[in-house]
Amino acid sequence: MVTPRITVNGKETPIEPASPHTTVLDFLRERGLTGTKEGCAEGECGACSVLVARPGVSRPTDWVAVNACLVPALALDGQEVVTSEGLATGGEGGAPPVLHPVQEEMAVRGGSQCGYCTPGFVCSMAAEYYRPERCATGHPSAGDPEHGPNGFDLHALSGNLCRCTGYRPIRDAAFAVGAPEEGDRLAQRREQAPPAPAATAYTRDGSTFLRPDTLDGALRALRERPDAVVVAGGTDWGVEVNIRSRRASCVVAVDRLPELRELRVEPDHIEIGAGLTLTEIERRLDGRVPLLAGLFPQFASRLIRNSATLGGNLGTGSPIGDSPPVLLALEASVVLAGADGERMVPLADYFTGYRQSVRRPGELIRAVRVPLPLAPVTAFHKIAKRRFDDISSVAVAFALDVQDGVVRTARIGLGGVAATPIRALAAEAALEGRPWTARTVEAAAEVLSAQGTPMDDHRASAAYRAAMLGRSLLKLYAQTTEAVSS
Ligand code: FES
Ligand code: FES
Repeated sequence: MVTPRITVNGKETPIEPASPHTTVLDFLRERGLTGTKEGCAEGECGACSVLVARPGVSRPTDWVAVNACLVPALALDGQEVVTSEGLATGGEGGAPPVLHPVQEEMAVRGGSQCGYCTPGFVCSMAAEYYRPERCATGHPSAGDPEHGPNGFDLHALSGNLCRCTGYRPIRDAAFAVGAPEEGDRLAQRREQAPPAPAATAYTRDGSTFLRPDTLDGALRALRERPDAVVVAGGTDWGVEVNIRSRRASCVVAVDRLPELRELRVEPDHIEIGAGLTLTEIERRLDGRVPLLAGLFPQFASRLIRNSATLGGNLGTGSPIGDSPPVLLALEASVVLAGADGERMVPLADYFTGYRQSVRRPGELIRAVRVPLPLAPVTAFHKIAKRRFDDISSVAVAFALDVQDGVVRTARIGLGGVAATPIRALAAEAALEGRPWTARTVEAAAEVLSAQGTPMDDHRASAAYRAAMLGRSLLKLYAQTTEAVSS
């Protein structure tokens, strides 16, 4: 086994003596790379954003921005990281460094005041600068409200907060960057293979970090270490470590297992690997599943989506995860892999209680399976205090088949109204077989408002949550009447 190391700004850097609990943020700062900042330590401010080389969607390698505060340093064993310090070039022998184009634009357009958030913004901006699908001219989205004339997607910055500059100069900088120049080393890096996943086994101070290189190896590790915490993107692990001071005795990393990274479209279903990040799924599906396409922009921030996985969102079993209502409405199943082989469990039967599921000790979520054909009328309504990067008060997903003005099938997934995500079975029954009319919808909306057992908490009252369920169906009706009748 090779000593774990990360290539940071082009230089191989041993991870030792870091512990299995050390985040990439602490690893970098302890080595003097203090441009990477800690703001919140829970994935909400982006001050810690860095670039990581990952398997690309349309090129061999993509530069992807992630929250360094959430990722275990050992998860990047054998990988390549670029920090804000590594974006500029030159600077040797006392010569002034040449700023990277995104740094230059941030500086000249007044995109930085106190500067605390700036390195994080610069890294998120650089990832979007190098996104292959973005181009300086002729971009299909160029100039719409969320893209610059240069194709820059403002969602790339949705996980970065600035408390003093104001966002207009930052947006100006983002919309001013051109295409990478000939010879740009990070642009060239995209054309070569991504770093291969390393098999890692590292123990320090009684804690172990394991990254098996096969599914069988991972299942064996889980059998041998029933105390292990399974980590994919780390978006939950980082919060547990930083905020709740949890220290797992053993971590098993599964995000680079090839068996968990496949996406296959078959005639009767789509199978989505549990270890693919939400960004990878979004870009690979490219709108093929409209309900998922509606979910992704509302799921946390681009920085989180670059790490978070469907397997992780289902594995934590949170009643307010954003993907379960959508997957319930899609009638998805979970493919569980264990020592005795695989079994498939409909998601509607998967959750058994608050953060509990039918997944047995030693089992891994290998994939999520979405049956085809898809229902034609779909919508995902997330009710939260902020439009983006917030936790749902209530989430509702609809998948309806309406033919000749009659609701043939209705599937409704709910989050935030019970101890688990649930299907709204009574409301589905109130719709099915009935005409898709205001009268039917109003009656079904009343039934929907009574589903679940919503609670009062700091995000919303029970009454508000119940009211939002009903309103959500009325909103769907208002939005879709025209489409259905045409
Ligand atoms: Fe705030 Fe990492 S420190 S997202
Ligand atoms: Fe001060 Fe952004 S410049 S936080």
